[in-house]
Amino acid sequence: MDSFHPIGVFDSGFGGLTVLREIERLLPMYDFLYLGDNARAPYGNRSFESVHAYTLEAVQWLFGQGCHLIILACNTASAKALRTIQQDDLPRIAPDRRVLGVIRPVTERIGTLTASGHVGILGTAGTVESRSYVIEIEKYFPEVIVTQEACPMWVPLVENGEADREGADYFVKQHIDRLCNADPLIDAIVLGCTHYPLLERKIGTFLHRCITIVSQGAIVAESLGHYFARHTEIEGRCSRRGRRIFYTSEKAHIFERLAAVFYGREIKCREMRFS
Ligand code: DGL
Repeated sequence: MDSFHPIGVFDSGFGGLTVLREIERLLPMYDFLYLGDNARAPYGNRSFESVHAYTLEAVQWLFGQGCHLIILACNTASAKALRTIQQDDLPRIAPDRRVLGVIRPVTERIGTLTASGHVGILGTAGTVESRSYVIEIEKYFPEVIVTQEACPMWVPLVENGEADREGADYFVKQHIDRLCNADPLIDAIVLGCTHYPLLERKIGTFLHRCITIVSQGAIVAESLGHYFARHTEIEGRCSRRGRRIFYTSEKAHIFERLAAVFYGREIKCREMRFS
């Protein structure tokens, strides 16, 4: 296939690059088009209505660029917009195209990652408030006990370069302690936000017992591989020349300055505007 039909990867800003990095590692042959809505980020504290409206606009823009499949790499968008987009919007605007999120792949696996059957979820206020992780885990593993903790300071800490500095200690320890005290039997903690893998090392230092930290990127990548095997009609429409294109709704230089922190290498970015 010569034409450009990349897999769209959408995030509120930079964070989805941690997910794209893992998807690429497993599926490098596909074309990818990344869109970060940095001009309107963060999404974490926004209402359902705003997150849905912004995400839908992004999805329509990505469809316009030739994407037949879009991954909402943002947990907040997956939590607050995905279901409405899949059930109400897609049948109307693009019935033959697909939009997937990052929450389900993790919740489908979580029962195999805990021995105690007690799991913790760390996320933005929006993700926690939506209860999406709780609802999804209940479907696949009804016996698993889920405790959530919103960490509203963690995204700004990462974006301000504090992830590995002492300044982050107080805020990281505070939420880890609160989660582990709320349920002392937790033996697996899901990093339910695109930014939190950058805090993984620090989170580890504040865990007092043996707890598995579950980062979602690799799980999302694996799940996409399985999805392609089941849905060859969608897979066959994704072009495969290993191309990467990055767009931001902000100024390109602002995106490029921080992108490498999330993506692991420098990026050249293009600008787009929502009309
Ligand atoms: N990408 C968001 C998420 O995974 C975090 C950043 C934001 O709040 O916009 O929930």
